[in-house]
Amino acid sequence: MQFDMRALPMVTRYKIVNSTITPRPIAWITSQSAEGIVNAAPYSFFNCVGTEPPLVALGLLKEPVSRGLKNTASNIIATGEFVVNLVCEADAERMNLCSVDAPADVSEIDYAGIQTAPSELVAPPRIATSPVSFECRKVAAMDIGAMQTVVIGEILMAHIRDEFITDRERVYFDTPAMKLIGRTHGSGWYVRNGDSFQMDRPRYDPSRMAKDRAAE
Ligand SMILES: Cc1cc2nc3c(=O)[nH]c(=O)nc-3n(C[C@H](O)[C@H](O)[C@H](O)COP(=O)(O)O)c2cc1C
Repeated sequence: MQFDMRALPMVTRYKIVNSTITPRPIAWITSQSAEGIVNAAPYSFFNCVGTEPPLVALGLLKEPVSRGLKNTASNIIATGEFVVNLVCEADAERMNLCSVDAPADVSEIDYAGIQTAPSELVAPPRIATSPVSFECRKVAAMDIGAMQTVVIGEILMAHIRDEFITDRERVYFDTPAMKLIGRTHGSGWYVRNGDSFQMDRPRYDPSRMAKDRAAE
């Protein structure tokens, strides 16, 4: 079956990408309003998109009814700063609590009982229990279509908890030990980052092409 994305309602397009482009890492974003209220919310339309400079991309959808910006998007546009905190299994429930539609003057930090630590280079604090936090500065915010804002951010400072660093000199990490979780198909489904396998990247082998031609 094929789906012409141009002809479908938004909710169907959402289902198609949300259920197939998985697993997605979760950015548990802390941001701060101009009034100084700290906001925390999870976003899984998120990934790294470069390393020179190190860049992340976020897909911040608009509120479905009001079509206004979510608090995270308003704060990033107003202040240019945010922190991406990655989510471990132990923080899953607190992260989920932050997805409630809280009024702008309510801090999810208090609502979900989150422990924070100060950031070095940006105003919003990071989440102290996250294995990894990235302090970011907005590079661009683009409204593409009526219902979403895409933010590109540069990572200025990376915090990785000491217990997950296996070799400081060579910069090796014990990623499985971080027990990060991600989003997968459908509503409310998550994956654990515990089922990995290793495969070396092959070199180009011209004899493979020769074999193909011989078989023709
Ligand atoms: C795991 C998870 C991932 C989410 N990913 C996104 C996302 O990528 N984009 C989005 O607009 N909302 C996403 N949401 C919903 C927002 O977290 C929710 O709308 C939240 O209330 C926004 O908070 P804010 O207004 O404080 O930014 C996600 C929710 C959960 C639980």
